[in-house]
Amino acid sequence: MEIKAQSKLKQELEAIRQQAASALKVATTKEALEAVRVEYLGRKGKITGMMRGLKDVSAEERPLIGALANEIQEALGQELDARLDVLQRAELGEKLKSETIDVTMPGTFRPMGGRHPLNQVIADICTIFAGMGFEVIDDDFCPEVETEYYNFEALNFPEHHPARDMQDTYYTNAGSNVLLRSQTSNSQIRYMENNPLPVRVVSPGRVYRNEEVNSRKFVLFHQLEGLLVDEHVRFSDLKGILHEFTRQFFEGERPTRFRNSFFPFTEPSAEVDVQCIFCSGNGCHICSHLGWLEILGAGMVDPNVLQNVGIDPNKYSGFAFGMGIERLAMLKYSINDIRLFFNNDLRFLNQFKGL
Ligand code: PHE
Repeated sequence: MEIKAQSKLKQELEAIRQQAASALKVATTKEALEAVRVEYLGRKGKITGMMRGLKDVSAEERPLIGALANEIQEALGQELDARLDVLQRAELGEKLKSETIDVTMPGTFRPMGGRHPLNQVIADICTIFAGMGFEVIDDDFCPEVETEYYNFEALNFPEHHPARDMQDTYYTNAGSNVLLRSQTSNSQIRYMENNPLPVRVVSPGRVYRNEEVNSRKFVLFHQLEGLLVDEHVRFSDLKGILHEFTRQFFEGERPTRFRNSFFPFTEPSAEVDVQCIFCSGNGCHICSHLGWLEILGAGMVDPNVLQNVGIDPNKYSGFAFGMGIERLAMLKYSINDIRLFFNNDLRFLNQFKGL
């Protein structure tokens, strides 16, 4: 009877050992291994259950069965630990492999973009005028596709007036009075129509003229318009502002000269020259041996223009100016062909990186 009991318990233990061995065989994940541990070695596990039953076994056979159960428990525990260790190492290996940075690999070259020199020059000019209290207005006020009214008529160019021929204008087929603006001066009218006085703005943008293309002229170019209207604005204010602008833009004190000129929307009108930055006035091929370089048109806003936007010219006065961005950029950076700005040749553009 006792022998029988002993062998029965032994058989049960051996069966458990077998089961555990085959469960281990198919346990290939940490979770599966953990499940085996719980099933056999857990508090309610099969081997633990056997150990608990030992108290009912007779004193003689208890050591034998106990020793066997211990042996199975220990062997299984060791096997589980070993398998878990292998899995964890493999997992770590994978993680390290995927996260490893090989610092000896060649890097991926990502070329840095640069600002187009014209945009850079526009930004610089706007910064200078912002420093003098001018607000920079954007294209909402000054469309490039414009009507004759804003490009000419409101600016005091009457219909059929020969002054319209000063700017050979592109008309569109959207309507007989719809054109590509030939000057940024349309922004003067549009801004004054929509804003209270005083006005103190600059407005950069593209303009178009049907010019024969050469190293100095292109069918598309950029201007920056300036407008200041308030009480008691005088010509000397215009001179002071423009002199300060050239000083800052060309980074140094530089004589400026106002030459008498004509624009329908300013009276009196002037064209402004700066002393040639290449020969300091001695004469060179860039200034056609004049010693001076023209940079902009300007003048006091014509009373007719103020009237056109409902401003009383007896109470208010103002000045306006319009400068050619390409021309200023060419002078500042010794660029001898306006077409370079529009060819997108990287050999040219790269020279302006980080200006
Ligand atoms: N719009 C003129 C031009 O394109 C320049 C200008 C602007 C002159 C403002 C006077 C006042 O030639």
